[in-house]
Amino acid sequence: MPAAPKPETLAAFEAAKGFMPTDEGLALYAAAVEAGRLGLPLLEVGTYCGRSTILLADAARAAGVTALTVDHHRGSEEQQPGWDYHDPETVDPELGLMDTLPTFRRTLHRAGLEEHVVALVGRSPQIAAIWGTPLALVFIDGGHTDEHASADYEGWAPHVAEGGLLLIHDVFPDPVDEFTGQAPYRVHLRALRSGAFTEVSTTGSLRVLRRTGTGI
Ligand SMILES: C[S@@+](CC[C@H](N)C(=O)[O-])C[C@H]1O[C@@H](n2cnc3c(N)ncnc32)[C@H](O)[C@@H]1O
Repeated sequence: MPAAPKPETLAAFEAAKGFMPTDEGLALYAAAVEAGRLGLPLLEVGTYCGRSTILLADAARAAGVTALTVDHHRGSEEQQPGWDYHDPETVDPELGLMDTLPTFRRTLHRAGLEEHVVALVGRSPQIAAIWGTPLALVFIDGGHTDEHASADYEGWAPHVAEGGLLLIHDVFPDPVDEFTGQAPYRVHLRALRSGAFTEVSTTGSLRVLRRTGTGI
């Protein structure tokens, strides 16, 4: 049986702003609990308002490790005003720019999981460039352009420890199904072709891969 979050954690996940459906959330949680056994941190690229972070934080708590979550909190292309995924509540009225950090902080506090998470606020490639710690799990759910998705893969996949997991969200092999581009699909193919990662499972648009070789 895969590990499942406590009912209150699942309720907090389902109540949080965000995009991840419950079946994918459960797969994310199970992968995070399993990877956490390596005793290394779990890292997410793409915090948004903390929906998926809740599950990573709870898995980190169970494993006695820390969950890290990276976001500049200014939103992806498709979340900007005028786009399908825009939520006006995420706009800072003073600056007129998106700022999802306050909602993220409230969400994690209300879920009682604040102390299990370190939020890294900044651009993913800039943080990856100075990162040096091996990771048990990397979950890529950041920008959906080829530029951003490739940079997330190139910046973070090298840090996945031997036996650790690489998760990629919004993988849509059929262009008919995709709403935000197929860049995550291309990253998924690249990871498989690298010979460094082996597919473990598929749930909806979430892919779980394990590092079984070196490189990326
Ligand atoms: C799809 S949302 C993440 C959803 C979240 N994982 C969830 O389940 O609710 C993508 C997030 O990636 C962030 N993002 C996009 N490009 C980024 C970059 N280059 N560096 C840091 N964050 C980025 C956006 O600000 C946005 O909050």
